[in-house]
Amino acid sequence: MADQVPATACGALNLSLFVVLALILANVALVCAKSTIEPCSNSDSCNALLGYTLYTDLKVSEVASLFQVDPILILTANAIDVSYPDVENHILPSQLFVKIPISCSCVDGIRKSVSTRYKTRPSDTLSSIADSIYAGLVSSDQIREANSISDPSVLDVGQTLVVPLPCTCFNGTDNSLPAIYLSYVVQSDDTLAGIAFRYSTTITDLMDVNAMGNPAIKAGDIYAVPLPACASKFPGYASDFGLIVPNGSYAITASHCVQCSCGPGNLNMYCMPAPFAVSCTSMQCRNSNLMLGNFTAQQSSAGCNVTSCSYGGFVNGTILTTLSSSLQPRCPGPQQFPPVKAPPTTVTRDSNFPPAPAPQFDGSPAPGSGSGSIPSTTSSLPGLSPASGPVGSSSGLNPAPSSASSLMNPFASISAAILLFIIVNFLASFSL
Ligand SMILES: *[C@@H]1O[C@H](CO)[C@@H](O)[C@H](O)[C@H]1NC(C)=O
Ligand SMILES: *[C@@H]1O[C@H](CO)[C@@H](O)[C@H](O)[C@H]1NC(C)=O
Ligand SMILES: *[C@@H]1O[C@H](CO)[C@@H](O)[C@H](O)[C@H]1NC(C)=O
Ligand SMILES: *[C@@H]1O[C@H](CO)[C@@H](O)[C@H](O)[C@H]1NC(C)=O
Ligand SMILES: *[C@@H]1O[C@H](CO)[C@@H](O)[C@H](O)[C@H]1NC(C)=O
Repeated sequence: MADQVPATACGALNLSLFVVLALILANVALVCAKSTIEPCSNSDSCNALLGYTLYTDLKVSEVASLFQVDPILILTANAIDVSYPDVENHILPSQLFVKIPISCSCVDGIRKSVSTRYKTRPSDTLSSIADSIYAGLVSSDQIREANSISDPSVLDVGQTLVVPLPCTCFNGTDNSLPAIYLSYVVQSDDTLAGIAFRYSTTITDLMDVNAMGNPAIKAGDIYAVPLPACASKFPGYASDFGLIVPNGSYAITASHCVQCSCGPGNLNMYCMPAPFAVSCTSMQCRNSNLMLGNFTAQQSSAGCNVTSCSYGGFVNGTILTTLSSSLQPRCPGPQQFPPVKAPPTTVTRDSNFPPAPAPQFDGSPAPGSGSGSIPSTTSSLPGLSPASGPVGSSSGLNPAPSSASSLMNPFASISAAILLFIIVNFLASFSL
């Protein structure tokens, strides 16, 4: 694609030997961590994920406030049971890896998340905030620049800092299939093959998405990892337009009234009333007794006539529902839900969420209960009460060429002025 920038290690600036020498002389640590950037042109924001490794034990609510994200969204994005007692105060262990859903904006022609603020505490430094608290998702230079800090050694306690975070969307597709992108910080024992395996993708795909010339990666690099997802087709005026749910997880939308899930059997988004939905507008389809997520199936000689009530987006505080009928070769079986798990208390070797078997928290799976009825709203996330469900109607196979991307050396964000300063210093040292 047109916007691609070659991604050679440390080469983004095309540093001349001269400048490199200057930097070495000036004793600047030349850290060549790379991060994938996506050029953008419109002001639309899109959904993305951050791969975050906890720097210490943190409550769910503390992780949420670090990124100013609704705790429920963090839980559902990680398929953690939201009905677990006092789950927001549950303490997640240090080094746990979680996915944080964020809104990805377009700022100065580049995709990034700019909604995160951090209030400094005593003993914070820019590098402790960047490397430890935000686990390498941001560099101290990027924080310094975003906040026009001239003297990084002086941080006032209680100062509110903008923390720019990396994100990409690539039009919500990867190889023309719906995808959501995870910003992943490479750990010291990672290999590209390992990352590809863990996220069920290929080395080639990762290299394409990140415009990599070779598969070598370094700790601290930030890559965009595409995760297969279920895409919505809500109208542009819906407040949850563009909702996209990664396979194996959930999202809560419509002011906590609607819960949508993705997978495991297919990539059709399936939405139903949220288990904790209170004071919500009607979730019943017009001219029908079907509620959101309900369906009826009727076998006839021509096939199975499936009528379903599906979610169509949140507009002006109203839950849009769509009643649709279709003739299908076979009647759909029970709706399958991604397994949910109790909030983790320990970090497994992989520090990742393995595709664990579904823990049954309320032990009432009533599979295949009669035709046409849907998950009863128990007080927990589904996965618990498999019941029949409609065939989601919102899979989007977008015939879109995927990713254009480029890698950028965060080094490039060091201002030209500083570089110039270094060069001048260097030259000056000669003339002495
Ligand atoms: C979605 O996840 C399930 C379970 O983890 C897996 O079996 C399935 O292949 C995934 N689907 C896609 C399209 O990745
Ligand atoms: C399917 O059933 C619905 C109502 O149950 C009906 O309105 C519709 O005409 C039927 N469609 C077909 C193709 O039979
Ligand atoms: C939402 O409400 C505002 C005013 O209340 C109205 O101008 C707008 O057209 C409504 N939008 C939709 C999509 O109905
Ligand atoms: C529709 O779904 C709701 C909960 O989502 C359930 O309580 C109800 O029994 C279902 N109704 C029918 C007719 O399937
Ligand atoms: C983005 O995806 C939409 C469908 O979701 C498609 O119509 C459009 O062509 C895609 N744009 C690009 C630049 O790939």
